[in-house]
Amino acid sequence: MHCLKKITDNLTWVGGNDRRLAMFEGVYSVPDGVSYNSYLMMDEKTVLFDTVDKAVSRVFFENLTEVLGERTLDYLVVHHMEPDHSFTLEEVVLRYPNLKIICNAKILTMIKQFFDFDIDSRAIIVKEGDEISVGKHQLKFYMAPMVHWPEVMMTYESTDGILFSADAFGCFGALNGAIFADEVDFQQNYMGEARRYYANIIGKYGAQVQAVLKKIVPLEIRLLCPLHGFVWRKDIDIYIEKYDRWSSYTPEEEGVVIAYASIYGNTENAAEILASRLWDIGIKAIMFDVSVTHASDIITAAFRYSHLVFASTTYNNGIFVSMEALIFDIVAHNLQNRTVAIIENGSWAPNSGKLIRAELEKCKNMNILENQVSIKSTLKKQQLAELDAIVDAIAMTLK
Ligand SMILES: Cc1cc2nc3c(=O)[nH]c(=O)nc-3n(C[C@H](O)[C@H](O)[C@H](O)COP(=O)(O)O)c2cc1C
Ligand SMILES: [Fe+2]
Ligand SMILES: [Fe+2]
Repeated sequence: MHCLKKITDNLTWVGGNDRRLAMFEGVYSVPDGVSYNSYLMMDEKTVLFDTVDKAVSRVFFENLTEVLGERTLDYLVVHHMEPDHSFTLEEVVLRYPNLKIICNAKILTMIKQFFDFDIDSRAIIVKEGDEISVGKHQLKFYMAPMVHWPEVMMTYESTDGILFSADAFGCFGALNGAIFADEVDFQQNYMGEARRYYANIIGKYGAQVQAVLKKIVPLEIRLLCPLHGFVWRKDIDIYIEKYDRWSSYTPEEEGVVIAYASIYGNTENAAEILASRLWDIGIKAIMFDVSVTHASDIITAAFRYSHLVFASTTYNNGIFVSMEALIFDIVAHNLQNRTVAIIENGSWAPNSGKLIRAELEKCKNMNILENQVSIKSTLKKQQLAELDAIVDAIAMTLK
């Protein structure tokens, strides 16, 4: 007996929540847990949309058998082969050997990579725009390559207007008994986690997200069912607008993210003075010590705000380790359209600024300010003018 959530008369959430996972995908903290969503449709055919992670396999199978009752499982639609949604796939096949698996050709290849069971005799291969009727419900398939992995696809069900969106539109955080985003205060309590999820999981693939948005925006979506987090039935356009913004690398707000790396506190001090001078003229600034705050959280802030300042010590003739990791990560996430300022520090021969600049120049549409402050151990009074020049340059680029 478990927590089953009805989404419509014939669609039930049969997933599970994990509140004990320390690091999602080995990188992202999930202090409020994470849900693995699987949905079961009961029509003339019974259709399961994705499976779950190993962590919640027991509750998932109990949910599944409970909702199926006397019936067997006819179809499993696989949208994404990442193990958080496919770990239990083989077990589903073992339990329901007559099941047909609906997937695309890339998913088929990946099923063979992850598993050894006979997939070919069970597979129904679909392409962009293919349709399958399962009774009252009509399924249409949309490919969504790189909206997390290359094989990803989505399913639109036209009778009830349901989009099964795979990882897109997901969110970190366990479902605490609720299932719909409008049951909780999503804007207040979950949008930050949704942004963190987007920026880190899909942030690199803005162009691919844009391509998928073009396909799904014309659909009449009345229910949005992602693989993590809440189901949407209200204000779906608000969430889609966020995705449009994030995937086009458009800042949500004006503000300055100051990420600093400091061993003895002098670079931190310069960052603090800069933040103070920005606030003095009414510009919002947020500071992060890159050795304390995980890069993924700073990247999330970088997706949100318009301006970035990197202040780093020089370290064995390179960029300080945790700053280097952050910079590489930002470049890897394809961040664009930001104004950037750089501060370096060094006691022997400061050169972290030059190295940071060279890395960030790999990003598209980055306005990297010429004004760069180079500190030799401690910021000197006469250098305050240089910091102010950065403040002025930032202010010039704000509305
Ligand atoms: C392990 C280590 C390596 C360093 N490597 C360099 C270096 O290659 N070039 C340099 O100019 N300073 C180097 N430094 C010195 C720091 O960059 C310098 O003292 C800086 O002012 C520290 O700023 P902070 O007070 O913000 O920590 C190194 C310091 C440490 C601990
Ligand atoms: Fe994924
Ligand atoms: Fe996922």
